[in-house]
Amino acid sequence: MTETLNVQLEDRSYPIYFNQDDSTLKATIDNLHQNNKACYLITDSNLYSIYADYIESLGIPQAHIYQVPEGETSKSVEHFEKILSFLASHSANRDASIFAFGGGVIGDLAGYVAASYLRGIHFYQIPTSLLAMVDSSVGGKTGINLPEGKNLVGAFWQPHAVFINQKFLETLPKKQFASGMSEVIKYGLLADKALFDQLANIGTVNFDDALLPSIIRRCCEIKAEIVSNDEKEIADTNGRALLNLGHTFGHAIENVAGYGDYLHGEAIAIGLHLACRLSELTYSSFSETDTEQTIQLLNQNGLPTVLNKSLEIQALNKAISRDKKNRASGIRFVLMKSIGNAQTKEGIDEAVINALWKKVGAVE
Ligand SMILES: NC(=O)c1ccc[n+]([C@@H]2O[C@H](COP(=O)([O-])OP(=O)(O)OC[C@H]3O[C@@H](n4cnc5c(N)ncnc54)[C@H](O)[C@@H]3O)[C@@H](O)[C@H]2O)c1
Repeated sequence: MTETLNVQLEDRSYPIYFNQDDSTLKATIDNLHQNNKACYLITDSNLYSIYADYIESLGIPQAHIYQVPEGETSKSVEHFEKILSFLASHSANRDASIFAFGGGVIGDLAGYVAASYLRGIHFYQIPTSLLAMVDSSVGGKTGINLPEGKNLVGAFWQPHAVFINQKFLETLPKKQFASGMSEVIKYGLLADKALFDQLANIGTVNFDDALLPSIIRRCCEIKAEIVSNDEKEIADTNGRALLNLGHTFGHAIENVAGYGDYLHGEAIAIGLHLACRLSELTYSSFSETDTEQTIQLLNQNGLPTVLNKSLEIQALNKAISRDKKNRASGIRFVLMKSIGNAQTKEGIDEAVINALWKKVGAVE
């Protein structure tokens, strides 16, 4: 059975398929082949080692499959260039399609290749990590990292379709599943109190939880709605920037700790804790109990809420000031008036931020 959700973006609208089997994906590939349109699949070496047979069963020729090493370092100019050359060496033309089979790293990298090659070709997302299913595969943000910072180069390039199949989560390492749970909890905090309460009731969510399919779908619905209203994050207030709840702090932690010390979702979990504390200080409607409940839920799902080793406040603040989300008017934080009701907020005093950093173990 396949359920569908549409991301409404005028001529760039596309379906997200929630699959119980691979029939829609296989039919899409067959259809492209029947129309003489070449298909290419990009994945990482780790996924290929687990899913070689599955990938083969999709019917994409072996010569059209490209593997990058697994991990964040593949989101680089080097691998971007190598994949472009791979496509050019196969004389891939404008009718070619790219299938991104993997987590957020593969989706971001393959999506940016698709956005750039011949000024843009079609691409399809087959997310395999929880983080990619609930977040990165939807919304069309594609890109790579520079040594100077994460996601500094990229494009908005929407996929043609997203195929979500929860069966891949069976092989996802626990720590990676937890990292995705950070984004799931984020959705509850930013837009849906009922989702947050549902998660709090479950406590620790596992890959085989009977409620997980509806939770994944709910996250996609929230993301799709926000993206439909502000595709390129240009709204002056709120809009797509709300999806960055916890990310201003989280990106700074990733940046200063060096990529590798924390998984993306782990850094975001500490960021969510800090966003709660800052919400408490800013809005009387956000209570300490709300923060404590959030910390408990993050911890129950194997996520940290304080730093595992001290980082310097000055370096963290410098990283915040370089954040892409900043506007000429200053640093933009995403806070919550209450659980399920996030708002963007500028003009937060640096002394307040410094005090918060100390609460999670940062030092002067
Ligand atoms: N574009 C967006 O909107 C957006 C949003 C959030 C995050 N991101 C990006 O996503 C990236 C993080 O994504 P991620 O956490 O999926 O990381 P990832 O792609 O590196 O995957 C994490 C690890 O899990 C492995 N893996 C993935 N699926 C698996 C499966 N089913 N079975 C076994 N192993 C599996 C991968 O091989 C990798 O080793 C970051 O680069 C982040 O910037 C993008």
